[in-house]
Formats: sequence, C-alpha cells, structure tokens
Amino acid sequence: MLSDLLQHNMRWATQKRQADPNYFERLAALQQPEYLWIGCSDSRVPANVITGLEPGEVFVHRNVANLVHRGDLNILSVLEFAVETLQVKHIIVCGHYNCGGVRAAMDGHQHGLIDHWLQPVRDTADEHRDALEKIIDGDRRLNRLCELSIKAQVDGLARTPIVQSAWKRGRSLNIHGWVYGLSDGLIRDLECGACA
Ligand code: CO
Repeated sequence: MLSDLLQHNMRWATQKRQADPNYFERLAALQQPEYLWIGCSDSRVPANVITGLEPGEVFVHRNVANLVHRGDLNILSVLEFAVETLQVKHIIVCGHYNCGGVRAAMDGHQHGLIDHWLQPVRDTADEHRDALEKIIDGDRRLNRLCELSIKAQVDGLARTPIVQSAWKRGRSLNIHGWVYGLSDGLIRDLECGACA
C-alpha cells in the first residue's frame, strides 16, 4: 500500500529528530558526501542500504547496467557536480552479478530502445569474445561479462575530461570497480580501480 510508505516516512523522520533535534536542519544546509556511486537501477541494489551510508553520505547515479555513456548529459552532469562542487574523494562503479541489463544485451533478442543503451555491453563482450566463449556455463559467462563491463566503465570514467582535469590539478580522486552478489548480499572489490 502506498500509504504505508508515507506512514513509514513519518515514523522515520520522527525517530531521526528524536535522536538528533538538528538532524534535518544540518542536512538541509549542506551535503558533503565523500562518495559518488554509479550503480544499476535494479531495485535489489540500493546504494545506501548495502553500504550502511546515511543520507548526505553518498551522491548516487543509477541507470540500467551502470553504464558510463560518453555522450550522456545526465551522468556527465552528475560526475561534474560530484567532482567539482561536492569534491568527492571516491567514485564507485558498483554493478552486480546476474544483471538483467547485461543479460538483455547478450540474449540475442530485440528489446527496443534499451538495445541502444546497452550497446557498450555488447562492445565489451566483443572485445573479450575469446575468453568469454571458453566459459561453458551460461550464468558464469554472464557474471564474467558483468565484471568486465564494470572494469570498462571504470576505464571510461578515468578517460573523461572531468576526471582527467581533476587529476591534472592534483586532486585526490580514486575510482573503484565493485560487484555486488544478489545471492549473498556481498560486495567484491574487482581491484580494477584507477587513480591519478
Ligand atoms: Co542490473
């Protein structure tokens, strides 16, 4: 029920204010997150919940299959604001295993507009065709492609003029590639990060 959501919100806000009377006033005045999260839109991978971060602690951008399109004004605006104005110290690309977006990119069917969106996933699969074809098990192959795509997004972020310019100015800005397991709730660091 939709009204449950509003009732929950009322209880949550009351509890927060009871624990800290200035909680909302302080948050309303300023956000100082140290992290930019780029994740999948999948409802099972909520950034704050799985990392234990509170409101104000992580700036979040999510899209299908956590892709960094070079011409996507949405993500580029988020990235520029996070790096230049919020001065985040870490950018986390967090994909997940068994990603429906990655699966749709590879299932050979036509889905409409989303096929254009998912083109970078197919490009990554083409790049690693030989290694992927050696993986017999379909789920394992899909999960390997999920990892490879996350690495490709980390590399793509590192090459954006926004990140390049921050690094040239000596800013401390680290990019990380993480993958989340839907079946165990655990995040793995793919250790494919980038820094200046
Ligand atoms: Co997904």
